[in-house]
Amino acid sequence: MNKSLRKAIIAGNWKMNKTRPEAKELLEAIKPLVANAEGKVEVIACVPFTNLETAINTTAGSNVKIGAENVHFEKSGAFTGEISADMLTELGVEYVVIGHSERRQYFGETDETVNKRTLAALEAGLKPIVCVGETLEQRELNITEEVIATQIKVGLKGTCEKCIKNVVIAYEPVWAIGTGKTATPEQAEEVCAFIRGELAKMFDKATADAVTIQYGGSMNAGNCKELLAKPDIDGGLIGGASLKANDFNTIVQAAVEG
Ligand code: 13P
Repeated sequence: MNKSLRKAIIAGNWKMNKTRPEAKELLEAIKPLVANAEGKVEVIACVPFTNLETAINTTAGSNVKIGAENVHFEKSGAFTGEISADMLTELGVEYVVIGHSERRQYFGETDETVNKRTLAALEAGLKPIVCVGETLEQRELNITEEVIATQIKVGLKGTCEKCIKNVVIAYEPVWAIGTGKTATPEQAEEVCAFIRGELAKMFDKATADAVTIQYGGSMNAGNCKELLAKPDIDGGLIGGASLKANDFNTIVQAAVEG
């Protein structure tokens, strides 16, 4: 394994948190803390749609990139309440979270819709952060690998070899999200390495080695170092801890030291 082949990425997923003034305040606090990560670790804040413009203006000229938390797969039309990929790129958004387990669980997201969103995002020039992960029940049934393999195979279907370089995979075991119950570094590494193996089957080894795979699920200032030290864990997708500038920065610094 060679981590130097790929980019380390620490991304905050703010979920449904922060008004615009609060978003500005948090990003103003994060910016100077993470400035030293430039060129070493990509730092991203994925924020609610309503905060995107504020976030882009606040981080202009800094090394903090902005992502959205979802995108619709159609280009435009009668899809009340939805946001297209072109609307995001026009704003200056670079990344988008796709298929987060909360969207799968509460909003009917499936591997098929994840696939459509991923292809639409790539076509518009966005970099998708595609989330995969098993539930506790699936882990206990020993079907984690089957579940993840299907999520990867179906979710990335039709992605060209050139495009996959712009895709980030986030392994987020559902049982570890927001529960304070993080996967052990060994558990997380095992699945991240499995994902890389699946990517190698779909594409080839060199391509798979270049894809950034993040871990997410109760990653915090206390446990990030051990997780990020694993050979196939190239970064983190951070929920709760991304809402606190100092905690988020501790995770960024752990990746910088990596
Ligand atoms: P927590 O870090 O709050 O567990 O959330 C993880 C997550 O869902 C990031 O997308």
